[in-house]
Amino acid sequence: MSSPKRILLIIGGGIAAYKCLELIRRLKERGHHVRAIMTEAAHQFVTPLSVGALTNERVLTDLFNLDEEREIGHIRLARDSDLIVVAPATADLIARMAGGHADNLATAVLLASDKPVLVAPAMNPAMWLKPATKRNVIQLKADGIRFVGPAIGEMAERGEAGPGRLVEVPELIEAIERIFEPGGQRDHVLAGRHVVVTSGPTHEPIDPVRYLANRSSGKQGFELAAAARELGARVTLITGPVSLPEPQGVDIVRIKTAAEMLEAVRAALPADVAVFAAAVADWRVDSPQTEKIKKAEGKSAPTLALTENTDILKTIAHEGALRPRLVIGFAAETQDVVAYAKKKLKSKRADWIIANDVSPSSGVMGGENNTVHLITASGVDSWPEMSKAKVARKIMERAAGELLAKRTAAE
Ligand SMILES: Cc1cc2nc3c(=O)[nH]c(=O)nc-3n(C[C@H](O)[C@H](O)[C@H](O)COP(=O)(O)O)c2cc1C
Repeated sequence: MSSPKRILLIIGGGIAAYKCLELIRRLKERGHHVRAIMTEAAHQFVTPLSVGALTNERVLTDLFNLDEEREIGHIRLARDSDLIVVAPATADLIARMAGGHADNLATAVLLASDKPVLVAPAMNPAMWLKPATKRNVIQLKADGIRFVGPAIGEMAERGEAGPGRLVEVPELIEAIERIFEPGGQRDHVLAGRHVVVTSGPTHEPIDPVRYLANRSSGKQGFELAAAARELGARVTLITGPVSLPEPQGVDIVRIKTAAEMLEAVRAALPADVAVFAAAVADWRVDSPQTEKIKKAEGKSAPTLALTENTDILKTIAHEGALRPRLVIGFAAETQDVVAYAKKKLKSKRADWIIANDVSPSSGVMGGENNTVHLITASGVDSWPEMSKAKVARKIMERAAGELLAKRTAAE
């Protein structure tokens, strides 16, 4: 449990507003001070009387209310808290925040505040999945606003399900308190940055039902995407066929072949950081058959002629004006890991290579842990074995530091 904090809760006008009563109770139980602003629309869903009784504070709504303004004032309200939580955040409120509006007390306080803001969206899946909402969320994330949820599940409307539910209160509290943990405040070191991550294997077709693939599980790439998101970046994750839960708040592009992956990376540029963690097939079948290859008695086994795939890391590292500022490759080797990785750094013109041993005895392919060496122009940094999530976090924090150093050097 974190030490008591001053939390300003902005309640939007959505059907999930009733859950904020439970949220206030639990936050108060944990010793936090809670003050609430309700939008006009929120009054249709919960009463200021309930909210005020639970917060034990006057509930504020009106930007132009002289009494309220005299009592605390919207600018002071914006500054006098440790965190602003918007829950439930309606599609409309998210849109007004993204647009920098200040047309009521809630939006005026949000615009005037320099405090961390946590947004918990709640809306119908169709609203959440609309390009307009997606654009607004991407913009807010790039501005350093944190999000929790939405959760996926049944909606209040009968028969509707999908992403858009307000996260449950315990998850909301966990997200709130995580911000107050050591390091939580500097979490958003990649805010305003675009990070592209490639992940997983590629499938190179032999015929409509068969393909060449490898054992990559995609776990390290997915962790990299999640870590970059947690640090505030806008993230595009380009993944080959894998069955892993999707990291929240990340744009996912699903591809099958190496050629499609290259195309998707190019389409995702410009980016500040590109991490090539995918296990891209080096070769594809020269001429995949359009019909299933049949075996027949007396007929000899088919021979597969292979053609080399374009090297995605090398191509993007040589991209000219569109080259990401930090190009990070992965080297998966089964022997002489560091020596190969050093060669790769030069031959591909990558800024960093993350080398890992993927021999079967290492358990890396498909496993939870990884032991990596970070190879840069200035040397080799060998990290102890740790979870793929930790490796990802360390790489992304280091990338944020590198971007900052590059910017400072350029100034
Ligand atoms: C019954 C009802 C339920 C609603 N639920 C939601 C909701 O869950 N999420 C949402 O984004 N908007 C919802 N709306 C629409 C918002 O109330 C509306 O966009 C309003 O302008 C939001 O105002 P606010 O963002 O200032 O609170 C609902 C509207 C009605 C009539």
